[in-house]
Formats: sequence, C-alpha cells, structure tokens
Amino acid sequence: MSVNTKAAPETAPHLVLDGLEKRFGASRAVQSLSISVGKGELIGLLGPSGCGKTTTLRMIGGLMPATEGRIVVGGREVTQLPPHKRDMGIVFQNYALFPHMTVAENLSFGLEMRKVPKAERETRVKRALDMVRLGAFGGRKPRELSGGQQQRVALARALVIEPSILLLDEPLSNLDANLREEMRNEIRDIQQRLGITAVFVTHDQAEALAICDRIAVMRLGVLEQLGTPYEIYERPSNEFVAGFVGRVNRVAATQGPDGLVQLGDLSLLAAGQVANGPVTMMVRPHRMRVVDATPEGEGWNVARGEVTRSTFVGDLLTLEVKVGPAILTVEQHTFAGGRPPALGESVLLAWRQEDTLVFPAGGGA
Ligand SMILES: Nc1ncnc2c1ncn2[C@@H]1O[C@H](COP(=O)(O)OP(=O)(O)OP(=O)(O)O)[C@@H](O)[C@H]1O
Ligand SMILES: [Mg+2]
Repeated sequence: MSVNTKAAPETAPHLVLDGLEKRFGASRAVQSLSISVGKGELIGLLGPSGCGKTTTLRMIGGLMPATEGRIVVGGREVTQLPPHKRDMGIVFQNYALFPHMTVAENLSFGLEMRKVPKAERETRVKRALDMVRLGAFGGRKPRELSGGQQQRVALARALVIEPSILLLDEPLSNLDANLREEMRNEIRDIQQRLGITAVFVTHDQAEALAICDRIAVMRLGVLEQLGTPYEIYERPSNEFVAGFVGRVNRVAATQGPDGLVQLGDLSLLAAGQVANGPVTMMVRPHRMRVVDATPEGEGWNVARGEVTRSTFVGDLLTLEVKVGPAILTVEQHTFAGGRPPALGESVLLAWRQEDTLVFPAGGGA
C-alpha cells in the first residue's frame, strides 16, 4: 500500500463548510470552521472531549442550527434546510435504534418518511442489511443483537436512504477493541465501495489515522490542522497536533540563530527553524534507537544517556533514558539476541534530524 500524501481532494468539493460557527451564550463551541470535503472522501473530525466535534456534525446534519456560516452540498446551500431534506445519513454513538421495531422496520422507517413505495422499501432494506452482513437478522429486535450487530444496523439504517453524505459520530466507541478494528475497516470498505462522502467523528487518533483520507484536528472549537494522516503525523503544524496524534517526547530546549537546538550540553539538528530562543523539541519514541556507534551519513543526532527504566514486553522494548536535563522515552522492536540494556547502563541514542520537531515554546497543552 502506498502512503497517501495528497493534500487536497482530487474531485470538486462535495461538502463545503464555510465559516461555520456555533455559540452557546458567550462560549464559542465551534469557531469559523471552513473545510471542503471531496466527493467520496472520508474526512475525520479528531480532537479531545469538548472540542466541538459533535456540535460540528450536528450542524452539518441539520440537527442544530449554525450561529453563523454556510453548509453547501453539491453546490446547493443547505444551511437552512431540515435534516430530511439534506440527503444525509447519520450514525450516532449510541445507535439510537427504535427498540420496539424489528431490524427491518428500523431501516424501513426512514424510507416510509420519504414516501418510498412498499416494494422498493423491501428491496432496499434487504440490500442494506446484506451490505452489513445482517441479511438473516431483519426479524429480530435490537435487544436480541450484540453491540457490534446493533452498530451494523445503525449503519445500514443510515445507508438505506442512499444519502450522498454519511455522518458518523463516534460510531465505534461502545465496542471492544477487536470489534472496533473490524468494524472500522468494514465502514471504510462500504464507504469506498459506494463512493459516499463521509464525515467521521472520533477522539481516537489511531482510528482516524487508519481509515480517513484526511483528518481535521480540532481543539477548543478551532481547526488546528487539516491534512492526510501522513501530514498530520509527520508534519504536525503545531505542538498540540504533534502531542495529540501519536506519542511523543516533549522537551524544553533553546534554538539558536544557526538552527541548532541546545539541550543541556547537547547541540542537535532540528527539522526546521522556528525561533531564536525557547522551543519545545518533540521526538517520537519509536524514531529513536539505541546504537553502538554514530550512524553513517548526514543528518543524525546522537546523545549519550543513562537508562532509568527498561520495560520488555516481548515485541517491544521501552526505555527511559536520562539525557542531560531530559528523560526521553525510546521504543524499539525487539529481535532475537538483542539484549535489553540494564538499569543504569550508559547507552548511545540516535535519531534523524527530520524527526526532531521544534515548535515555539508555550504553544501546546
Ligand atoms: N446544548 C449545549 N448548550 C451549551 N453548551 C453546549 C451544548 N452542546 C455542547 N456544548 C458545549 O460545546 C462544546 C463542544 O461540545 P461537543 O459535544 O461538540 O464536543 P465533542 O468534541 O463532541 O466532545 P466529546 O468527545 O466529549 O463527544 C463543549 O464545551 C460543550 O460543553
Ligand atoms: Mg461528541
């Protein structure tokens, strides 16, 4: 599989959020949010609790009015339209199935509302249930299904109306870890097969990285970065994004006018020049390794340190290494014969210049 590094959708935008804003009294839950989503693109809204993901999704779906801004679908403004006129299917975190109806009736309901004739309703319900591999479950009540099956019903119910846009709000958060992974792939497969444009809300960065074409990282109602998983992970635009997506060592240091970063007595090469003064240096644990000698070639940082913790869990070895004033976490895959360093042992660490992210101090948290 090739890494997707494209920065913008290839197709014309299908869903446009233009200066979308939601205020509750004086608090701005979503602040002038502008995103263009391509046709068939799966975009993730990712961020910590309370950052405005659900609020954004509810505005897109018409379940909550926007305070300001516009929502455009396929060139048509829908900002003032009620939910059922927006051509969108919505999957909620708690599934929100009708408990007294069978699975098939749950799916059929939205079609009845839209005045779809009975024979066509039956065909479409069957097709949607087959799509989520629940063809034999149409007669059951939701309570007679497992969590994963209920989640599939919720997905089928959103798909059966054949919406041009699918909105998903933390659809997997009630499932256990294994099922989450299986279901996220299933959602991705169906979304790609149908070529449906989708907005997927999650606070789980691994989930977002795994299935989204692009990710919008939000904090406190503000869009911090919009980019492919590759861009978000490798080229985070600020300290918050770097810290939120993936694990990272975060160290206070100083950058000089020559671009070198001073950490205690160490002079380190950095991925960029961001300040002449205090910076936060960030390096991901798995981008650092224990080496016998300075690696060949240009662009390496090396530092000697003392092992203060060593955790061996079979496939992974995690070390904490005191380097000057900092404690750095180092994570590496193990191999047969690779002896874990002992506590107190002096080790040489190496990592690449490009992996040495720097941001002006004070931009994180
Ligand atoms: N009806 C409301 N009235 C007042 N404030 C609200 C209302 N709904 C949401 N908020 C506030 O808006 C902010 C964003 O809430 P939202 O539900 O969009 O967050 P979220 O990103 O979905 O979080 P989570 O990951 O916890 O679901 C929060 O500070 C929340 O308290
Ligand atoms: Mg939410």
